[in-house]
Amino acid sequence: MNYILSPSLLSADFGRMGEQLKILEDCGVNFTHMDVMDGMFVPSISFGMPVLKSLRTQSDFIFDVHLMIEDPERYLVAFKEAGADILTIHAEACRHLDRTLHAIRYLGMKTGVAINPSTPISVLEHILELCDMVLVMSVNPGFGGQSYIPYCTDKIRALRKMVDERGLSVNISVDGGVNLSNVDEVLEAGANVIVAGSAVFAGDIEANTKGFMQKLEDFAAKQTKS
Ligand code: DX5
Ligand code: ZN
Repeated sequence: MNYILSPSLLSADFGRMGEQLKILEDCGVNFTHMDVMDGMFVPSISFGMPVLKSLRTQSDFIFDVHLMIEDPERYLVAFKEAGADILTIHAEACRHLDRTLHAIRYLGMKTGVAINPSTPISVLEHILELCDMVLVMSVNPGFGGQSYIPYCTDKIRALRKMVDERGLSVNISVDGGVNLSNVDEVLEAGANVIVAGSAVFAGDIEANTKGFMQKLEDFAAKQTKS
């Protein structure tokens, strides 16, 4: 299994984006998590296609785009054109999940389904095969810098069991309140894509990122041994 750090740009300094992406790249990161918020599905408004498009010209990173927007099916082509590689939509915000996941794949992107803390994993039962990634929200979406909700660890564990029992290779991503003190718990539960915003960008970005990369490397080595 690949263990991946996907730093959330929501906590980055937008005035120094190029410089900050370079620091991540030098630490071996090749994913970035981009939080798109519409002020409807979540209270905040963040950024959209023009920002992605501009970053796309500066970076070869895999763009892991987290759409916190109502009726995301309206914008699939626009996000493809803006450079999204993985398009994650919220189960709670999309009325026709099956159709929308097929459309994302048809457009040549990887599919992700995000579920809020209160949404049970049973919502994925019939569409798990259509997901390249499931994003387990471990805070209520809308803001960076919130605390990890402890019951989400059990959800990750149950989801990993569901994925493994079906013999699938769906990535399990965890988003919200993940830091160097709880990342081991999240990995142990079965997540393999770690989203972190404030824990990467607050303070020394290089030291923080190296800390996460070391945790992921150590965990992967432990898995190979056992
Ligand atoms: C929250 C976003 C997250 C956020 C995570 O709605 O989806 O990606 O940026 O930030 P931290 O890691 O600070 O909780
Ligand atoms: Zn996110």
